[in-house]
Amino acid sequence: MNVNNLMSGINGSSRNITAMKEHVRQGYDAVYTTEVNRYDELGSPLYPDIAENLLSEVDLKGKKILDVGCGTGVSSLRAVQQGASEIVCVDQSTNMLSRCQAKLKSQAGQVRSSFLQLDADKLQFDEKSFDVVISSMMLGFMPNQVATLSEMRRVLRPGGTLAIATHGTAFQTESVWAFIRGLPPRHMKKPYRIEFWPRGEKAIQRFLAKAGLEDIHTKRHTLQETFASPAAAFAAMEATSGLWMMTNYPRAAADEITAAYRKSFERYKVDRLTHDVVFGYGRRPAQ
Ligand SMILES: C[S@@+](CC[C@H](N)C(=O)[O-])C[C@H]1O[C@@H](n2cnc3c(N)ncnc32)[C@H](O)[C@@H]1O
Repeated sequence: MNVNNLMSGINGSSRNITAMKEHVRQGYDAVYTTEVNRYDELGSPLYPDIAENLLSEVDLKGKKILDVGCGTGVSSLRAVQQGASEIVCVDQSTNMLSRCQAKLKSQAGQVRSSFLQLDADKLQFDEKSFDVVISSMMLGFMPNQVATLSEMRRVLRPGGTLAIATHGTAFQTESVWAFIRGLPPRHMKKPYRIEFWPRGEKAIQRFLAKAGLEDIHTKRHTLQETFASPAAAFAAMEATSGLWMMTNYPRAAADEITAAYRKSFERYKVDRLTHDVVFGYGRRPAQ
């Protein structure tokens, strides 16, 4: 049993979907830490590796691509480098989206690109608009993952490909434990809401099928990254999460909890993080 899912189940965090998304948005909009603005620097090599792995088995040449939860455009740029003819990038965070736009404008050459602030559950495109839909490391933040995948399937043309990478059940559990163990006792009174739903391969297969995709396959890659110090491991986690988990607390408490979280990394010598990633692929049926 994964500790995140267990705690989310116990405290009922799946009930308030609007608040849940808003928390994640604030994290990536740098409300709780400006370190998220170092996402590309501190999220490397992990996120570029995930993008490479995700797209290694997808034919993108001459295709119109939608990247959902594009972030700073790590996978969007990769898709362009693999020959996409047009890329549409969407994210609910304007902070991440503007970084994506700057990156593609400077590095994507003449390829047509557009950037829209959208919730992944409400993709405001006509049905059958894209040849390929990609989404890297966003699905784990979505409360109803079948609904999100169904929305991605809706905008795919018949026969089009969906390729996702998402947080596996062991994703950075060292960090989750450090948070729980470091949490000052008086803040435990408020039930902690976890806006994070990591999944195993079987679950992703099931969700893709329920969302109406076919030719489904998955793979899972787990690797441990060792950092120079617990402080460096914390910095990588902070920059790539935006500390969205702090958004449940008033600002002053969040600062205190962040300090305790950082200290907990030191105390328990967390200088390694497990990156557990599940990749899922499917095709929209031809009819
Ligand atoms: C871990 S980052 C991944 C970014 C990028 N795809 C990558 O691989 O580097 C997660 C991204 O998902 C976005 N996101 C989270 N929930 C979202 C939602 N409901 N709709 C759109 N984007 C969302 C966040 O704003 C953030 O940019």
